[in-house]
Amino acid sequence: TLIPVIAIDGPTASGKGTVAQLVAERLGYHYLDSGALYRLVGLASSKVGVSTASEPDLIPIAENLNVNFQGDRVFLAGEDVTDQIRQEEMGKRASEVAVHTGVRNALVSRQRAFRQKPGLVADGRDMASVIFTDAATKVFLTASAEARADRRYKQLIAKGFSANIQVLLQDLRERDARDANRSNSPLKAVEGAHHLDTTSMTIEEAVNQVLKWHQAS
Ligand code: C5P
Repeated sequence: TLIPVIAIDGPTASGKGTVAQLVAERLGYHYLDSGALYRLVGLASSKVGVSTASEPDLIPIAENLNVNFQGDRVFLAGEDVTDQIRQEEMGKRASEVAVHTGVRNALVSRQRAFRQKPGLVADGRDMASVIFTDAATKVFLTASAEARADRRYKQLIAKGFSANIQVLLQDLRERDARDANRSNSPLKAVEGAHHLDTTSMTIEEAVNQVLKWHQAS
């Protein structure tokens, strides 16, 4: 029988990663942070001086990513790059490499390989629309741009990074536009997706709502 997938898609800094991880924990499911893969392509390409515009050079990098997820740490060729890929700059690079069809195709089977018993929670932009079209539960998770900029700001400060809320907001809007307007797998809710606006919700409330939908699926 089919291994159940909960697909959680949404814009950057919407809180989908946090919600997805907690839902996975509660259910004892595996977790896929698909954005991390695009961030890793961004990082790996920058290490070898490849431009985010150069699709032919990015494809083999995406195909050959030597990545390991261990708990909440991410390793690239044995190096712990968790903090590096979380930087704003890498989010921007990720959204630039993610526009290329060849890069996206190179990451498809790697993402589907995360579907293992007893189930998977996957977060990203195209989890429901492309990667796991047969997901048992599809959630489109959003929050206002202001709320997202505010959350990202607090996250960065908590990690000891410096941040400017106006710059973050501007950056978010640029990435939203790039993710929504690209021709390949643009961010959009699929038919049948549950919409969850978390602007004035706690993480706990959002997690419980997703669990409720999944139980009813
Ligand atoms: O979710 P996160 O902010 O880590 O994703 C970084 C970037 O990777 C996004 O802005 C988006 O352009 C790209 N991405 C994507 N498809 C996914 C996940 C992320 O295009 N499934």
